[in-house]
Amino acid sequence: MLIVLAGATGDLGHRIGLALLGRGAAVRALVRPGTNKPTLSELRARGAAIVEVDFHDEAALRLACEGAACVVSALSGLREVIVDAQTRLLGAAVAAGVPRFIPSDFSIDYTKLPVGSNRNLDLRREFGQWLDQAPIQATSVLNGMFMDLLTGQAPVILFKIRRVLYWGSADQPLDFTTIADTATFTAAAALDPTTPRYLRVAGEVATVRDLQAAATAATGRRFGRLRAGGLWLLRLMIRVARRLAPAPGEVFPPWQGMQYLHNMFTGLPKLKPLDNDRYPDLRWTKVREVLATRPKQ
Ligand SMILES: NC(=O)c1ccc[n+]([C@@H]2O[C@H](COP(=O)([O-])OP(=O)(O)OC[C@H]3O[C@@H](n4cnc5c(N)ncnc54)[C@H](OP(=O)(O)O)[C@@H]3O)[C@@H](O)[C@H]2O)c1
Repeated sequence: MLIVLAGATGDLGHRIGLALLGRGAAVRALVRPGTNKPTLSELRARGAAIVEVDFHDEAALRLACEGAACVVSALSGLREVIVDAQTRLLGAAVAAGVPRFIPSDFSIDYTKLPVGSNRNLDLRREFGQWLDQAPIQATSVLNGMFMDLLTGQAPVILFKIRRVLYWGSADQPLDFTTIADTATFTAAAALDPTTPRYLRVAGEVATVRDLQAAATAATGRRFGRLRAGGLWLLRLMIRVARRLAPAPGEVFPPWQGMQYLHNMFTGLPKLKPLDNDRYPDLRWTKVREVLATRPKQ
């Protein structure tokens, strides 16, 4: 089965490519002209075909999609990528007669969120409207937050002061999945012609109390909790951060990460039901395992 993969130079994308190859698929990775990222050499060495394509050129994209059983997008960006480039890729997939499309969603369940509560997820919802109208079978993979972010990038587990920072309730269940597990699941879904519109997975569903226990177990040092306030306070902080440092061209400015956390702590985008058992050969990595990989400070 041939899978066309856009975003193969990226963190998630190259892992999807490797997972597809590991499952015996043929992979055609679409990359921007002149790209020479180290992630490509491994894909090339493992047998992926690397095709340079101008993502503004619909005819070239159509040619690049020909013969594929599924187009998978792991592109990352703002409107010009998530709406514009993906819409051209979708048009090309339809024109080439590709039966299935997996968009670059990989998030909490944005279908349950009010419009305007998360800029990046609003773009996915907007593209999803085009996708739903297109004559192609669409499947979005929703995975919560990348668990890997808990080792430092997401300011939730504060290792220096040994606290788990949160707003709202310490008992709110939150969804986390590693980038690697998301990639493996996506590869399996790309090769599965029977997938529904949405697939929802979470390597671990954890409350703040669970994160506290995982951090304590992983480091051998006791972690406490730090409640910064109610969700109204986080909403106010987002407004202030957005006003002071709007960074309109950045995909993940600090206020966007805060929007994501706010969404998660409301419980609205909680993934359910979970499709974790859909491919029985997959094993889901736990928060404690990920935290244990963090170098000791
Ligand atoms: N759930 C979560 O917690 C979470 C966290 C992070 C990311 N994500 C999601 O995961 C997905 C993949 O993210 P990632 O972290 O793997 O991204 P990444 O490492 O930044 O990779 C982005 C990919 O998109 C390509 N790209 C960007 N702009 C493009 C354009 N204009 N035309 C063509 N290709 C373009 C890049 O190509 P070049 O190499 O040529 O630049 C690269 O292959 C995204 O949907 C992202 O939002 C989810």
